[in-house]
Amino acid sequence: MTMELQALFPLALGRVFLRLDPWDLALLMQEVLALRGDAGGNPEPGCAWTGDINGIWQLHSLVTFAAISAEVQRQAWIYLEQLGFQPGTVALHMQRSWPVVSEAGQVVGRHHHPNAHLSAVLYLNGDGSGRSGCLRLFSRHPSNELVPGLLVGHGGPIDPAASAAQRWNAPWLDVAPQAGLLVFFPASTDHAVTANEDEDDLRLSLAFDLALTAPWVGEGDPAPPEYLAPHPAQWSAVAGPGDPGQ
Ligand SMILES: [Fe+2]
Repeated sequence: MTMELQALFPLALGRVFLRLDPWDLALLMQEVLALRGDAGGNPEPGCAWTGDINGIWQLHSLVTFAAISAEVQRQAWIYLEQLGFQPGTVALHMQRSWPVVSEAGQVVGRHHHPNAHLSAVLYLNGDGSGRSGCLRLFSRHPSNELVPGLLVGHGGPIDPAASAAQRWNAPWLDVAPQAGLLVFFPASTDHAVTANEDEDDLRLSLAFDLALTAPWVGEGDPAPPEYLAPHPAQWSAVAGPGDPGQ
């Protein structure tokens, strides 16, 4: 008799390779570097440059990035479909999108995206080795960490290199960048980018935040379900006390 361990409640990491024309890819990389300009860090020198806090937070509205953003949106629907979303039950919005440039030695610290529901990253370069820095996705609830701290503590009883430990007690999963690789994950997932250890190359990626709302509700349509925000086109902006006309 053998005991079987069953995997429960998996986190859905979507991975798809986009077949990007090398010329288009080169153009996107060139444009990302032009957008970064002379900036080197974010603003700390050890942190990768990320456009979202440097004024470049809606790449999808720039002509150069329109086609790639449209493809990311198309793939986002496929991710949702694979999670079981029924067609027509939600509206999807590209909320924020920005380039990330990581020089040798730079990292992105652990964080998540509380503003959004679904996050995506497209890698413009990378050879799959992870040398230029991996996307590190952290386990939200280390369900099998029988003793708190067991997984990250030094000298613990579990061999981190053992395949069983990798499967059942991995505190994180690393995704190595590869040109054309597009990944999706829930925006609430903590993630980071490990150090770029490639002295000769920059690590270039595009990040996207998407939000889900109820679809637009027309005359006579049923009200949106309570757990979804109504479609933003049906919101009313509330003027602040200091706004003109108040
Ligand atoms: Fe992020």
